[in-house]
This record gives sequence, structure tokens and C-alpha cells, in this order.
Amino acid sequence: MFAKTLLGASLLASMTILSSAALAQTIGFSQIGSESGWRAAETTLTKQEAEKRGIDLKFSDAQQKQENQIKALRSFIAQGVDAILVAPVVATGWDAVLKEAKEAEIPVILLDRMVDSDKDLYLTAVGSDLVHEGSVAGKWLVDTVAGKDCNVVELQGTTGSSPAIDRKKGFEQGIADAANIKIIRSQTGDFTRAKGKEVMESFLKAENGGKNICALYAHNDDMAVGAIQAIKEAGLKPGTDILVVSIDAVPDIFQAMAAGEANATVELTPNMAGPAFDALKAYKDNGTMPPKFIQTESKLYTQKDDPAKEYEARKGLGY
Ligand code: AHR
Repeated sequence: MFAKTLLGASLLASMTILSSAALAQTIGFSQIGSESGWRAAETTLTKQEAEKRGIDLKFSDAQQKQENQIKALRSFIAQGVDAILVAPVVATGWDAVLKEAKEAEIPVILLDRMVDSDKDLYLTAVGSDLVHEGSVAGKWLVDTVAGKDCNVVELQGTTGSSPAIDRKKGFEQGIADAANIKIIRSQTGDFTRAKGKEVMESFLKAENGGKNICALYAHNDDMAVGAIQAIKEAGLKPGTDILVVSIDAVPDIFQAMAAGEANATVELTPNMAGPAFDALKAYKDNGTMPPKFIQTESKLYTQKDDPAKEYEARKGLGY
């Protein structure tokens, strides 16, 4: 009787181990790199979300190169992972590798950036409405300058990336009815602080030491932070002499806002993995097809929104 109970208990224990092993998913994550504070936070939060859920996350850093991402995806496919997350550095050139994943029946989820490929080639995309983000920034400027003439310089994100394309388009839509606002210069700063500073220095030089510039629109906060440094070094006051509006809502921009050196930012949540893993679980467990686009919120913050408190709330949250 005792031997039977013992046998039953050990059988149950091994079944439990087997079923939890069956539940453990291996997911490949191809990340772009670490160009910005926002990107670093997305990486940290994705790893944390995976750990919380007992997912074995295979992480690959592409160092800004699409070819590295394609190699990583092919390696994930060869390893037979259960799913793939990819933050695509640029929008084009994904068809072949996405088809290979589909043929291998490995669902792919896009994180934060979009691709131009057929929607059937991926399960879902988690991200914000990138055009809307740009338009929120543009409308903020329209309201803030209230009819006064305003020359804008624009720091674009990585050329060919969906946020660079859509945030530009959105901002232009946001200012479309304001004849007083003109974009006088626009160049890529590659989403990095160093390049943002360097390009802003060239804008300032070309525009009478900055005296012709009324506002800076940067496609991310890191470029804005670099540009703020350039504006200060040129002897001008960022946030006053040159208005600064950007996107991401990273802690450093709230610090700049608290110091009066930046004016507004549009939030992009770095936790895209949470909704991605939820969608994947529902799909794997009971075949629930997620919508093709899972949209995250885009909230505008200005100097009126207690930036010091926002800084405190965010620092340490993966940034
Ligand atoms: O794709 C999202 C963008 O990529 C973020 O706004 C930027 O900071 C990052 O590098």
C-alpha cells in the first residue's frame, strides 16, 4: 500500500515536471541595438517579462544592422524556437525571412517598429501609432506659438525606419494648417544623443548661431538631450530661446523639462513585450488570433505635468 502510494506520488511528480517543461517556451528576440535610453529600457523590460513568465528568451543584439537581424531570425528558425520577437531596424527587406518563419510555422511578433511586408507574414505588431505621435508634437507646437512665426529644425530618426518616416509625416500633418510654422532644416540624427548634438551644432551654425530657429522637433528624446547641450554651448537657452519637443518620455527628458530646458514629450511605452507575450499565450493556448496591431498609448507631457515627479516615477524602471 505504502509502495503504491510512493509510486503514485513519484509518477505525479514526474508528470508535473514534464508538463511544466512542455509549457516553457523558447522565444527568440532580435533587438536593434542600444541607440537610446528608450531602447535600453525596452530590452530590460522584455527580459524581465520573459523571466516572470518562465520564458527562455534567446536575445540577439543586431548593432543597428538589418543583416544581423536577418541572420538572427534564421538562426532562431534553425533552432526551432516557439516564437520570434523582432524590433525591425528599417521597414523594408523583410519578406524572405518572414516567409521562412511562416513556412516553419513559427509566429513572429513585431515590437515597436513596423515593416512594409504583407500582414499575413507576422502574427501581430505591438506599437504606438507613430503618425499620431508626430501629429501630437506638431499640434502642441501650433498651440504653444499661438500664431507667431516659428522656424523649426527637425532631427529625424534612423533613415528608413518606420518611426522616422511616420513621426515626420505626423508632425507635418499636425502643423499643416499653421502657415506661421515652417520646417527649415531636417536631417537624421540616428536616434542617438551624440548624433543629435552634432547635427544640432550644424543647424545652429547654418541659422545665424540659432537666432533664426524658434523650435526643435526631435524624433526621440535622446537626440533632443544631445541638441539641448549644443544649444547651451551656442550660448542660447533651450526651452526658452529654442522650444524643444520630442518623443519617448525617458527620465532624462523629464529632468530637462524640470530644469526648463525641454518643453514637451510624447510617451512611448517601453513595455511592448507584456502585451506581445499575452497575445502569444492566447494564440498558443487556445488559438485566439490577436488583432494585427496592438496599440499602446501616446500621452503628451509638458512642463505643467510635474516633470520632477515623472522623472522620479520612471528612473530605475529599466531606463
Ligand atoms: O522605435 C522606437 C524608437 O527607437 C524610439 O523612439 C527611439 O528612442 C528608439 O531608438
